[in-house]
Amino acid sequence: MARVFSGIKPTGHLTLGNYLGAMRRWADVDQHRSDALFCIVDLHALTVDHDPARVRRLSRQGATLLLASGLDPELCTVFVQSHVGEHTRLSYVLECVATDGEMRRMIQYKEKSVRERARGGSVRLSLLTYPALMAADILAYGADEVPVGDDQTQHVELTRDLAVRFNQRYGHTFVVPRATPPAVAARVMNLQDPTSKMGKSDDSGPGIVYLLDEPDVVRKKVMRAVTDSGQDVVYDREARPGVANLLEILAACTGGNPAALGGVYESYGALKKDTAEAVVEVLRPVQARHKELCADPVYVEGVLRDGAEKARAMARPTVDAAYRAIGLLEPV
Ligand code: TYM
Repeated sequence: MARVFSGIKPTGHLTLGNYLGAMRRWADVDQHRSDALFCIVDLHALTVDHDPARVRRLSRQGATLLLASGLDPELCTVFVQSHVGEHTRLSYVLECVATDGEMRRMIQYKEKSVRERARGGSVRLSLLTYPALMAADILAYGADEVPVGDDQTQHVELTRDLAVRFNQRYGHTFVVPRATPPAVAARVMNLQDPTSKMGKSDDSGPGIVYLLDEPDVVRKKVMRAVTDSGQDVVYDREARPGVANLLEILAACTGGNPAALGGVYESYGALKKDTAEAVVEVLRPVQARHKELCADPVYVEGVLRDGAEKARAMARPTVDAAYRAIGLLEPV
C-alpha cells in the first residue's frame, strides 16, 4: 500500500486554497487508499516572525479542522510535528546532504525573505533551511506520495534530489517520493488579485475565503471578486485570470470541469452567484463538525497524542538507519 504524507503550517487561518488544493483530497481519497499521515507542521511556523500564543492557537485549530474536514484517526495518523523528535533529528542530517545554493533557489525562500526584509525584519536562518525540515518530514516516513498544491512541488522536487543523493552516497535508505497535486484547484488565487495565490499568511482579507468564514461573508467575498474586462465567460488562465479562478473554484466544489463550466454562463454575476453558493455548501459540513469538535477538546488531544506515538514508531527505524549510514556511531 502506498504511504502518503502531507502537512499544513499554522501560520494563519486555513483557507479555501488549503482545503481545495490539499485537505479535501486527504479526507476523500488519500486516507482511504493509502497508509497516510497528516501533520500540523508547527516547527515550520517559527521560520518567520511569529507570536507564540497565536502559533499554539492556530496549531490546535488546524488539527481540529483536519478532523472536521473528514480525516478519521481510525484510517490515518494525525499529529503535530514538534511532538515527534525524529523530524529535527533527520533534518540536520539532510542539511549535511543539501547545499546552500539549492536552498537559496527555492521560490518560497526568495519571496518570503524579500517580504521579511521589506517589513524591516531580519531573515531567520530556519527560513533558509526550511526545505531540509520539509524533506525530513516526508523521508522519515518513507512516503511515496505527497499530496500538495502547486506551490509546494518545488520543495518536493528538492526532497527527491536529497533522497537520491543520500541513497547514492551512503546506501539505499530513503524512498524517493513524488508530489501529487490535484487536477483542479492546484493553485486557488486571491479573489482580489487573481494573479497571486490565496495564501493564509497574506494580509488581504477580502480576497481570501477562510474555512471558518460565515456563509454571508463567503458570499460577499465571492460576489466582490475581481473579474476581467471581457464580458463572456471563458476559461483562460492567462488572459482571464479572475474568471478562470472562479471557474476552478466552482469546478472543484461541484466536481465539474472548469473549461466546460465556462460555456454554461452568460454573465459574470451568475457565475459568481453559483460559485458563492457552491463554496458555502462545501464549507457547511466542515464548519458544523468543527463546532462539535471544539466542544470536545479532550477528544482532539487524544487523537494528537495517539497520532504522535504512532508516528514516532513509524519514523524511528528510518531515521536510525540514516544516522548509521551517514557515519554516526550507534548509541551504546
Ligand atoms: P501550507 O501550510 O502553505 O499549505 C498547506 C497545503 O495547502 C496547499 N495550498 C494551496 N493549494 C491550492 N491553492 C492555494 N491557494 C493553496 N494554498 C496552500 C499547499 O500546497 C499545501 O499542500 N511547506 C508546506 C507544509 C509542509 C509540508 C511538509 C507539506 C511542511 N512539511 C511535508 C507536505 C509534506 C506549506 O507551507 O504548506
